[in-house]
Amino acid sequence: MVSSTCLAELGHDVEIIEIFEDKVRSINLGIPPIYEQGLQEMLSRHAGNRLKATTDYSDIANSNVILICVGTPPKNDGSADLSMIASASKAIGEALKDSKDYHVVAVKSTVPPGTTRNVVMPTVLEHSGKCSGEVGFVMNPEFLREGLAVQDFMNPDRIVIGSYDEAAGDLFAPIYQGLKAPMVRTSLTAAEMIKYASNAFLATKISFSNELGNVCKRLGIDVYEVMNGVGMDHRISPHFLNAGAGFGGSCFPKDVSALIHLAKDVGEDPILLKSVVEVNERQPMRIIELLEKRVGNLAGKKVAVLGLAFKNDTDDARESRSIPVIAELIARGAKVKAYDPKANSSMSKIYPAIDYFQSASDALKDADACLVMTEWPEFRNLDKEFDLMRSRAIIDARKVLSCKDAEGICW
Ligand code: UDX
Repeated sequence: MVSSTCLAELGHDVEIIEIFEDKVRSINLGIPPIYEQGLQEMLSRHAGNRLKATTDYSDIANSNVILICVGTPPKNDGSADLSMIASASKAIGEALKDSKDYHVVAVKSTVPPGTTRNVVMPTVLEHSGKCSGEVGFVMNPEFLREGLAVQDFMNPDRIVIGSYDEAAGDLFAPIYQGLKAPMVRTSLTAAEMIKYASNAFLATKISFSNELGNVCKRLGIDVYEVMNGVGMDHRISPHFLNAGAGFGGSCFPKDVSALIHLAKDVGEDPILLKSVVEVNERQPMRIIELLEKRVGNLAGKKVAVLGLAFKNDTDDARESRSIPVIAELIARGAKVKAYDPKANSSMSKIYPAIDYFQSASDALKDADACLVMTEWPEFRNLDKEFDLMRSRAIIDARKVLSCKDAEGICW
């Protein structure tokens, strides 16, 4: 959604192929089916003009460049499910059958190294009846953060283009004309790995900060002060060192798991990556331990959970750290009073039976304890609202609160 709208902004004619009709209708009316800062304004400029959505694959033959942007969710064993990649490739191949033109098929989805070469290429070629050279293949990972995706698209740190041959990369690269960023031209597999390595490294930084934060907490040190000093080293950088509840979202958890799976598949034991996941899985349990230390047995206690989205500025609750925390609260007999500025509805699909509120104050009323789980700016100045609780037992899992009596998870 973001890439296609931004490509239209860069001046291209873009057609989105989407299997859900309600999303197609919404996009064509200029209403994005997801919330993303700045997207609505940009989409309304281009919907119906340079940007159109359809459920019909047949128009693909009129495009020079075809981007595959489907999901690659984790399977039960942690490996990436490539079924949507395969079915998109098949449909693209069929749509290109009668075309006489040269087309470039580019994979934007995050896929394990080898997927573009071993799944996308043969599937497109088989179903189009063409041979390699008649269709070009590119792997072009995205590095967009949810909530800041439009900004990230327009101001990338780098653009990575892996290609099967030079010609495909040359035809593809100009789609980013107008953006100022270094371009990394490389092989298909290296491009695929750059995406996994980037996400795994960022996740490692977060788990590192969390592990260190847990040690700091025992020593009475504020890990944020420590990381402030650490991050000033330009070799480290200050970003992604924020300790707290751990990482969630649609990318880090699944991509680290997929990389672990991949490493094992080729006979390596990914010790570091396994620990990154383990630290991340333990972190929510630390919040519960702190909570019990403060209020004792949780059975029958009312616990306000502020923040359900996996991070601020999104309505997305996928892999949110609130999910395991709420599961544990329910298992221990607590009554959960939940509030999120945007993600109440997403979380209600996961936990339909807990109580959702329309404001932090409503959720806090009569609560025995409060957990702040997402770094929403609107939580920063909460203070007198906590007086609505039975007692001010407040645990901040994101270092977002400014009130003095909140207890931090790693500080
Ligand atoms: C991430 C990558 O940043 C992006 O490049 C990639 O394309 C997709 O995955 P996203 O999942 O949108 O983006 O969110 P991000 O801002 O990276 O945060 C991921 C999770 O890490 C969130 O749960 C966030 O709260 C957590 N986080 C982030 C921390 O706990 N500490 C930090 O210092 C930074």
